[in-house]
Amino acid sequence: MRYINRLFSVASLFLILLNGQIFAQNSTVQDGLDRISIDVSSMLVENLSNPIGLDNPAPRFRWKLLSERASVRSTGFELELCKDTTASNGEPETVYRSGKQVSPLLFFRYNGSDLQPYTKYFWRVRSFDQQGRATDFSPWVNFEMGLMNSSNWKGSWISDGKSIQEKALPYFRKEFRLGKKVKSARAYIAAGGLFELSINGNRISNTWLEPNYTRYDRRLLYCTYDITSDLLNGNNAAGVILGNGWYNHQSTAVWDFDKAPWRNRPCFVLDIRVEYEDGSVETISSGRDWKTQTGPIIFSSIYTAEHYDARLELTGWNKAGYSDTAWKQPNLRSAPAPLITAQNLHPIRRVEEIKAKTVRKFNDTVYVVDMGRNISGVSKIRVTGEAGTEIRLRHSERLYESGRTDLSNIDVHYRPVGDGDPFQTDIFILSGKGEEEFSPRFNYKGFQYVEIKSSKPIVITKESVLAYFMHSDLPPVGTVTSSNPVLNQIWSATNNSYLSNMFGYPTDCPQREKNGWTGDAHIASETGLFNFDGITVYEKWLQDHLDEQQPNGVFPSIIPSNGWGYEWGNGPDWTSTIAIIPWNIYLHYGDTTLLSRTYESLKRYVNYIERISPGGICTWGLGDWVPVKSQTPVEFTSTAYYYTDALILSKSALLLGKADDHVRYAALAKKIHAAFNQKFWNPATSLYGSGLQTELSVALHWKLVPDSLVPTVAAALADRVVKDGRQIDVGLLGTKTILNALSDNGYTDLAYELAARETFPSWGWWIKNGATTLFENWPINATSDISMNHIMFGEIGAWMYKALGGIKTSEAAPGFQVINLEPCFPKKLNQFSCRHESVLGTIESGWERKGNNIQYTVTIPPGSIGRLRVPAMGKTARHYIELGSGTHRFNWKNL
Ligand code: BGC
Repeated sequence: MRYINRLFSVASLFLILLNGQIFAQNSTVQDGLDRISIDVSSMLVENLSNPIGLDNPAPRFRWKLLSERASVRSTGFELELCKDTTASNGEPETVYRSGKQVSPLLFFRYNGSDLQPYTKYFWRVRSFDQQGRATDFSPWVNFEMGLMNSSNWKGSWISDGKSIQEKALPYFRKEFRLGKKVKSARAYIAAGGLFELSINGNRISNTWLEPNYTRYDRRLLYCTYDITSDLLNGNNAAGVILGNGWYNHQSTAVWDFDKAPWRNRPCFVLDIRVEYEDGSVETISSGRDWKTQTGPIIFSSIYTAEHYDARLELTGWNKAGYSDTAWKQPNLRSAPAPLITAQNLHPIRRVEEIKAKTVRKFNDTVYVVDMGRNISGVSKIRVTGEAGTEIRLRHSERLYESGRTDLSNIDVHYRPVGDGDPFQTDIFILSGKGEEEFSPRFNYKGFQYVEIKSSKPIVITKESVLAYFMHSDLPPVGTVTSSNPVLNQIWSATNNSYLSNMFGYPTDCPQREKNGWTGDAHIASETGLFNFDGITVYEKWLQDHLDEQQPNGVFPSIIPSNGWGYEWGNGPDWTSTIAIIPWNIYLHYGDTTLLSRTYESLKRYVNYIERISPGGICTWGLGDWVPVKSQTPVEFTSTAYYYTDALILSKSALLLGKADDHVRYAALAKKIHAAFNQKFWNPATSLYGSGLQTELSVALHWKLVPDSLVPTVAAALADRVVKDGRQIDVGLLGTKTILNALSDNGYTDLAYELAARETFPSWGWWIKNGATTLFENWPINATSDISMNHIMFGEIGAWMYKALGGIKTSEAAPGFQVINLEPCFPKKLNQFSCRHESVLGTIESGWERKGNNIQYTVTIPPGSIGRLRVPAMGKTARHYIELGSGTHRFNWKNL
């Protein structure tokens, strides 16, 4: 916290001479003239903007400052909560006043009197700067609590009572009358499986695949929607379609989700809570007074596809006045899980609409449409044809030479029974009534191409097909631009793969598996956090971890899991998610909530590894997955992760005030460190292990190398890379460490050479071969592990921010209260700049090479301090200067 309390005064222009390196620093901010204010658009509750349906009784509040003034620091804040800003006397009914809180953080956890279910609250905040001057109070913004307690549900769980083998999806409807003027209305709905809710014929939300996937027999999420404007005075109708999702998995593949312990026919519970202007409340709920029927969705699988027979459409089924006499009464069901909690995270949306790039006609029943880029999501077709025409839409990432779709890289783990469920292939049967449209509701795929094959001639043009890039709609918080177009494309492909693998839980790939592979996710978590505001999804997914953990501490390698993965792939190299993700969230958000929620679980996990690794060496794990060529021994990397877990646990213990644990786990970390060095350091060769790139870089990056040996090991790593032909020789675990270990230890040019390389093996090699996403394997013609949309090699995205932009977090002052700025300037790159919208505000770091000079510009947000490493000519000399908020320009000579 050393830097936190330090106050600044920055002159608008001054000169510094340091080792002859800096010759000018120019700060464009002005002192004292401009006011500081609260940035209303950044006022968040539970990391969401004006959320409704919160369950957390102690929600967290966050805000940012806006200021043109130099060196703004926050020293405290005051927050107020009220129930209604328009109470009868015009005065808000205050519920809570924090009083002045002394804190450098722009973050507060509610600790007032109990918040009430269904209640809307308004809050405002003001901040105090280092002179004790207060900003104006922000305008009031709001949030609303949800059910808060399962006993508040009024509705019953219902299903249509059909067997799990039934292919057609159930539709449910209910009419109701509202006789009074509605003030506000909310729908609270949870489902075993997926649901789509409509009111009076309208889909009530632009979100998809709700609720997000969890360990279905332990916890289900409920969603809250504001339906005030969907309701009519008089007769209304509510309609629900249920999808199978992962709940009733009928497709068969190697992970046996069709045998999941939770498997059942989809079901749901719904409360529509209407508040009238006169203050009274009425709730319309799911129950036996609903009606159910199957409809046009004749098959649906989250994993493979959806089949739709438009001849079976139930026109008007979700509007009032529809005749449902042929419909049946639903069955009451027990709740699928003991816990039904609020889904408080950025939902899945159809975020981007993508137009077809080309259409190739093979004949009048076969067309292949190229969407121009690889995505996760769905296609939508609009077409005219004869009734009964069957159209198959086969989605692939690549084409055979013939130009037809090739699924052989992604259908390898699929074990179809019969031919009724073709992989990534929607089936649309036309009603013959004019122009018809289809897009699946309860499925998504990974694809670039759509092959359209029909049983009777149809006409397909570029306008006939659209695609939607779907994923958890995380707000983007980062940009990278540089003078190297390939590097820029790598950055964008990394983000495409990150988002393609974000569906309320991180996945490995959106086509072949859609599994929540733990290893892929912790490796990609920094890339994710520099580019997207991911805290809500990570907090949800770490809760999934807690729901999955065995009493002995073990996690499965995929989360959520049906039970698969407890005996394969779940060593610390994968399931260190439980340590690494909460730690990264702490570093990026300055929030210990997740660390404290997962603390006991991490402890149980570390204790388990300790039990099976008495000497400090852990042999449990998968190792450096899909390497270029060399395989690092599993015990090497697993011990490094075991050490990392113990270290994070000891540091968390300190942060959370658990002194005994801190001592115990710091000692454990020390023991593992010693065992690692004893076993893998060879003083005769001055190498770790046999000196592979993964070995040396893992030892450096995860801080297993004693300080005195760091230069030797870093030199050995650089040497190894050169001997390996100046190219990477790493797999998943090594991609996390290789670039960082080089650039953190003075080998920037070599790190950049690897990152920007355009021939095999490299990220650029994929780009040169047309990639718009990251691949799973280095050779583009590999024969196995060849998904074309994997995030696992995605650390390079974070490396761009950390090394080229130099933006690094600080353990002592997390949430960018202190920004460690250590930009590197590879000789072969002329310009680089990156922007990260941190929890304190915008950080920008960019530079341009002008001859031998570097012009560097950095923007520090209000409330934050930059600790800039001033580049020196020699590799070892290090000088740091501190920068207050504002924009600072430097011109460094001879770099
Ligand atoms: C997945 C990987 C995952 C691995 C674990 C693969 O099938 O796609 O990304 O981490 O299995 O072994």
